[in-house]
Amino acid sequence: MPLPESFLQELKARCELSEIASSYVNLKRVGRNLVGLCPFHSEKSPSFNIFPENGSFYCFGCGAGGDVITFIRKIENLDYMESIRFLAQRAGLQVPESGVDDGMSRLRARILEINRETARYYHAILRSEQGAPGIKYLTGRGLTLQTIRHFGLGYAPESRFSLVDYLAKKGYTQNEIILSNVAVKGRNGKAIDRFYHRVMYPIIDLRGNVIAFGGRVLTDEKPKYLNTAETPVFNKGSYLFALNFAKSSCAEQLILCEGYMDVISMHQAGFTNAVATLGTALTPAQAHLMARYTKEVVICYDSDAAGQKAASRAIPILRDTGLLVKVLTIAGGKDPDEYIRSNGSNGRAKFKNMLDACGNDVEYRLQKVRQSCNLQNAEGRVAYLTGAAEILATLENRIEQEVYAGKLSEEVGVERDTIMRQVDKLRSRMKKNREAKQFKEFQQQTVGYRDSINPEKSQHLRAASAEEALIAYLMNNPERGMQIYEHLPPEKFVTAFNRRVYQVIMGRIIDGKAVSLTDISENFSMEEIAAIAKIFAKFHTVAVTDRDAQEYIQVILQENAKRNIENVASAPAQDIQSYLRELKQQKK
Ligand code: UTP
Ligand code: MN
Repeated sequence: MPLPESFLQELKARCELSEIASSYVNLKRVGRNLVGLCPFHSEKSPSFNIFPENGSFYCFGCGAGGDVITFIRKIENLDYMESIRFLAQRAGLQVPESGVDDGMSRLRARILEINRETARYYHAILRSEQGAPGIKYLTGRGLTLQTIRHFGLGYAPESRFSLVDYLAKKGYTQNEIILSNVAVKGRNGKAIDRFYHRVMYPIIDLRGNVIAFGGRVLTDEKPKYLNTAETPVFNKGSYLFALNFAKSSCAEQLILCEGYMDVISMHQAGFTNAVATLGTALTPAQAHLMARYTKEVVICYDSDAAGQKAASRAIPILRDTGLLVKVLTIAGGKDPDEYIRSNGSNGRAKFKNMLDACGNDVEYRLQKVRQSCNLQNAEGRVAYLTGAAEILATLENRIEQEVYAGKLSEEVGVERDTIMRQVDKLRSRMKKNREAKQFKEFQQQTVGYRDSINPEKSQHLRAASAEEALIAYLMNNPERGMQIYEHLPPEKFVTAFNRRVYQVIMGRIIDGKAVSLTDISENFSMEEIAAIAKIFAKFHTVAVTDRDAQEYIQVILQENAKRNIENVASAPAQDIQSYLRELKQQKK
């Protein structure tokens, strides 16, 4: 049963997106909008926009978008109902709990069950005779049975159907298994195990749910790791591997590693505050997540060039959340796992020493510049100071800038004020560049697409554009709805996705209900909401007038007449949609 309309209206009124988002993102006002660095992907110049007029957000960099509920779902990693509860609690509202059950939360619950069964299955296989290659591999890398149990590691056997058959026997449908991404759709449409002949690392969230898997080959084959793709329960940019264990021992410090194996090794050696990203660059959402549990993060990435580059990228993202940041670089080109293991029984003590001795990120970055300059001659000292001033210019804290400027002054023999003047000059230049870039990115809004939500769009560009413009117009002018409806019944829409959006909006207008993104969000998946938010964002700067709206109606009617019926007979299947429809039919 859906939530009562009156409750949703009250919730929406009390949960202003811009206010809620600003506790996660530093926002600046630009015209009518608010702009900041996107919390859902890693970026240097802001492409995350909030449109306060209609309570939507959209990132021109990564395409994340939606309303306040989507925002909370993504950033807090919650499902629809959990986000409603989260927001309600914040707003001091009671959620009417009368058997709420939308299709999407049911699907999420099924996927979590499948993941749990899968983790159990792979773990049981690992510990059976069939798992011998997996046990040999893991113990060969120094893991004890206790560690293997603790992390729930598993083994996916060579067969391509063992998991799929197992899950089918447990009563899960092919569709559910595929949507969990533990299997993929084979050529004949039948599910095939996604992982085979790999050791399996389950990824467990803070509530103990298995949300995804990483699977490693036992050899040098590529790809080394296969990870769960995005599913309704998993977004790889908003979670950290092993945070479920680390959260209880990390009040003072978290150690951020690059790989699953590093983390497992570290935990085995007693560093139970180690976590890792899930095979992507660190995102602000992950940094915020860490900031909620700790004060300080020690970046402990591989000492190769790629690792060091990733460390430099992670530093400002972590600092932006107010975390203290240190960087530990292991000499000799090793990753933490190799370092600990190669030092045998001294591994733990030696790593602990490095940890205690490692400097903060400013020192780390200054040292990188110092290493590349010859301080014996004037030229080298100028280069050092120039590079150093660039680093200090990135610090937000004036006192910190002055402290380091003081140290530099003693080191190189140049007045502190001179160094600070250079820092200030760089800061204002950086600010200008940022603004210019932001403007440019804003102009490039209309990027090329590979639209998975509206796959018909590429073939029916003219129709789809008119449909989108009309949808934007309708949401801004719901009072015109009835009039438009008379001229344009939903079946005239050319693309199925836009037609569905139109139907939902029209249905509400006819019932005299509100049609903001939050009002209609219950009817759509997160990805679909992002697509609708994108439509808003696109038409935000170009207002659609009444006259335009009439023209768009004509375009849609024309395109509809042109459309060749045979061509559309095989629109690509939208798996989630068909699942939800199936579910509805079962319920009847
Ligand atoms: P590493 O190659 O450093 O992995 O990649 P590792 O954990 O140290 O693995 P071992 O020691 O070789 O077994 C770091 C992380 O990047 C992601 C994984 O999350 C991995 O843990 N990754 C790497 C992938 O997702 N896919 C890949 O093919 C490789
Ligand atoms: Mn490794």
